[in-house]
Amino acid sequence: MNSDLLGKLLASRKYRDICPDTVRRVWDACQRRYKRPKDAEKAAREALHGITGAFMTPREVALLADDMRAWHADQTDAGLERMLSRHASTRERLPLADTDALYGRLFEVTGRPQSMLDLACGINPLYLGARGIRTTGIDISGQAVASINAFASSYGMPVSAVCADLLCPGAIPAERFNVALLFKLLPLLERQRAGAAMDVMSAVDADFMAVSFPTRTLGGRNVGMAAQYAAWMEGHIPEGRTTVGRFETENELFYVLS
Ligand SMILES: C[S@@+](CC[C@H](N)C(=O)[O-])C[C@H]1O[C@@H](n2cnc3c(N)ncnc32)[C@H](O)[C@@H]1O
Repeated sequence: MNSDLLGKLLASRKYRDICPDTVRRVWDACQRRYKRPKDAEKAAREALHGITGAFMTPREVALLADDMRAWHADQTDAGLERMLSRHASTRERLPLADTDALYGRLFEVTGRPQSMLDLACGINPLYLGARGIRTTGIDISGQAVASINAFASSYGMPVSAVCADLLCPGAIPAERFNVALLFKLLPLLERQRAGAAMDVMSAVDADFMAVSFPTRTLGGRNVGMAAQYAAWMEGHIPEGRTTVGRFETENELFYVLS
């Protein structure tokens, strides 16, 4: 019965794009928490909906594929900006000049990296690849990962991505990177499992780690999130790391740890 329900979730059109390990992880947790299979299924569906959110709608996925094909003709910054506008997180850093300025500030602290690891990357590696930065991305969204790998193979960009769940064993590469990005990720991880943010930060092997937090609601309101996340971050610096940079943009707070 329970394996039937898991099979149903794995086969569901709604969750087909999500890494199967995530579906299994969420199902296991809900099954442990709820005695009645019906309750466990309802809770699992709610949790999966919360994790995947609406970062990229099916229409945006289709438009991104068109944008990527169109980029072939001229490879302009306007075309890159169109691609980045298809995911909620990269969209919030546009216009492209603002994204360039943000990485300018980051690289003032870290130097221009030889290698980057982008955890829960969304489609951010499209930007990094277009700017010539070797990047490995990880995300549970099959569509985001496929877009990055298609970008790499169509245009020879120095990026690759893996569909994996950061809360499952083996998802974080063992190799060392210059800079690891954990953009708008830690609050999401904490919601999925208490303590997960620290576990993931501690497992990353990188000279620098850049962590960011949203400071406005999805509707654009300022409700004191910056102060709340700053207090959280300052109380959760992983052992052996020090804060070497902190800056804010209009809607995001950044910490750089060495
Ligand atoms: C708010 S978006 C941030 C995307 C990107 N870091 C950026 O700032 O442009 C969060 C991303 O985390 C991914 N995600 C959520 N939970 C995850 C997990 N357990 N493992 C890996 N990726 C996850 C989602 O699919 C989504 O793309």
